[in-house]
Amino acid sequence: MQKIKINFKLNGSMVSAEIHPRKRLLDVIREDFGITSVKEGCSEGECGACTVILDGEAVTSCCMLGAQVDGCSVITVEGLSKNGELDMLQQAFLDAGAVQCGFCTPGMILSAKALLMKKPNPTVDEIKMAIAGNLCRCTGYKKIIEAVMLVVQRK
Ligand code: FES
Ligand code: FES
Repeated sequence: MQKIKINFKLNGSMVSAEIHPRKRLLDVIREDFGITSVKEGCSEGECGACTVILDGEAVTSCCMLGAQVDGCSVITVEGLSKNGELDMLQQAFLDAGAVQCGFCTPGMILSAKALLMKKPNPTVDEIKMAIAGNLCRCTGYKKIIEAVMLVVQRK
């Protein structure tokens, strides 16, 4: 099948790629742009390890085609730090001890970040709802929720 060209904003910079029309967004990000923080866990929209922020919304990139982001803005965890400084949420994950093996962490941070972008002062229930699609086998979620609350408290 003939390849198609897509243009989109990736972590603030315009990029383009020639891709198979049925190539998943997850594979475009990992293979065409070498961003391996976007993890492949279940491949069927259940674990949240492949989460990215697409035009302000957290989405699972394993369930989307690369072609769907033409003209859009995609953010991975690499797009959160500025001038070598961690984003407040990334720092809070470290400070709260919310990272163990780290496999879920980029997706977890991006789901929480999408919430904070829309709602800077979320409740604990809203945080739980925002990360409900991100599975973590290590932390028991308590420290992750504490990390997001730390950002709220530090503002
Ligand atoms: S790999 Fe996409 S949700 Fe699990
Ligand atoms: S820190 Fe290991 S899966 Fe979440």
